[in-house]
Amino acid sequence: MGEIVELGEYGTRFTEDPHPVYAELRARGPVHRVRLPPPMAHHETWLVVGYEEARAALADGRLAKDVSKTGFTPLDEELIGKYLLVADPPQHTRLRRLIAREFTGRRVERLRPRVREITGSLLDAMLPQGRADLVESFAFPLPITVICELLGVPELDRKLFRALSTETVAPTSAESEHDAIVRLAAYLDELIEDKRCSPPADDLLSDLIRTTDEDGDRLSARELRGMAYVLLLAGHETTVNLIANGVHALLAHPGQLAALRADMTLLDGAVEEILRYEGPVENATFRYAAEPLDIAGTAIAAGDPVMIGLTAADRDGTRFPAPDRFDIRRAPQGHLAFGHGLHYCLGAPLARLEARIALRALLERCPDLALDGRPGDWLPGTLIRGVRSLPVRW
Ligand code: HEM
Repeated sequence: MGEIVELGEYGTRFTEDPHPVYAELRARGPVHRVRLPPPMAHHETWLVVGYEEARAALADGRLAKDVSKTGFTPLDEELIGKYLLVADPPQHTRLRRLIAREFTGRRVERLRPRVREITGSLLDAMLPQGRADLVESFAFPLPITVICELLGVPELDRKLFRALSTETVAPTSAESEHDAIVRLAAYLDELIEDKRCSPPADDLLSDLIRTTDEDGDRLSARELRGMAYVLLLAGHETTVNLIANGVHALLAHPGQLAALRADMTLLDGAVEEILRYEGPVENATFRYAAEPLDIAGTAIAAGDPVMIGLTAADRDGTRFPAPDRFDIRRAPQGHLAFGHGLHYCLGAPLARLEARIALRALLERCPDLALDGRPGDWLPGTLIRGVRSLPVRW
């Protein structure tokens, strides 16, 4: 087994800008043995950084998700229950079938007027202030409101929920991660119980509860909680960063911003380039080798964990020429920001819809949008790429 790359040794530089580190690794080969930075520092894993290898690995059925088969149960699965990202076929197929029809392009398209409305009222509230933290005032409330309305979550304590969910996807310490997941589990139990006791409603969570009650073997109580968990978390922890990373990238590249302002037909391509250039999911969630396999000449033993670098792959110059250049006119099709294969993001159509509406409205209503000081810290860990705050003025 080759040398272990200690990602923690790169310090905060790696959290702030991991791209040079991934570029260095890519130059040495597509697959590496790494030890993760704190708070995951005890975890050793294979890391795939080359585009072709990452894409193939995402679609490789021998790289499984249900790590409990290796005798290890991830913390969130232990405390919350099974959910899509920690399940393999046939359980994954069953869970995905129950929910997939709700997120098709056509179903999501029906949300367009409501997403526009929410976007408009957030901007109405924000604009008179002249300056704001874009994450807090806009990028966070938009996707959380959309996913809560879709699920039928009424009085969510947004501030508390945001703190807990961010700590879950980008933990600052092992203890606070544990604490956040325990509190999220209690929160979800209460939410489901409230829904169950309320008059039948026409929303996604009510539908899922009915499915559980009437046909118990299709969705167990723990699976129901797992589904609410993954939808609520994945539904906003990512999109908030797509919007904020997008605004950040555009403000840092005035030529690109001017081109977009001059021709809004470039918007859809710009959103794809933002996904490629600074995608919100840095690495796919863990897989493990269900049997011995070989990735680009590297032998992976059965049971070994494997992390697939999405942002590393999307900056691979063999696939995307001049990969570190942010260019809204390039054709970034085939980027891996939403993953690939069986676990391809269920919410991709919704995320695209929200990001396009949000960026268009923000740019149209703020012709002088500019950074207003240094952005906040980059989120810790190797899962999510985004800043805690983005001060802007207009
Ligand atoms: C810009 C926003 C988003 C990005 C970049 C993103 C990215 C991803 C990625 C990379 C995966 C696959 C992870 C893996 O294979 O390990 C994934 C899965 C998933 N995403 Fe998203 N996502 C976004 C928004 C959303 C939204 C809005 C929803 C809400 C409905 C959502 C729900 C899910 C679910 C449920 C899965 C698991 C699918 C499965 O295991 O079958 N995502 N997402």
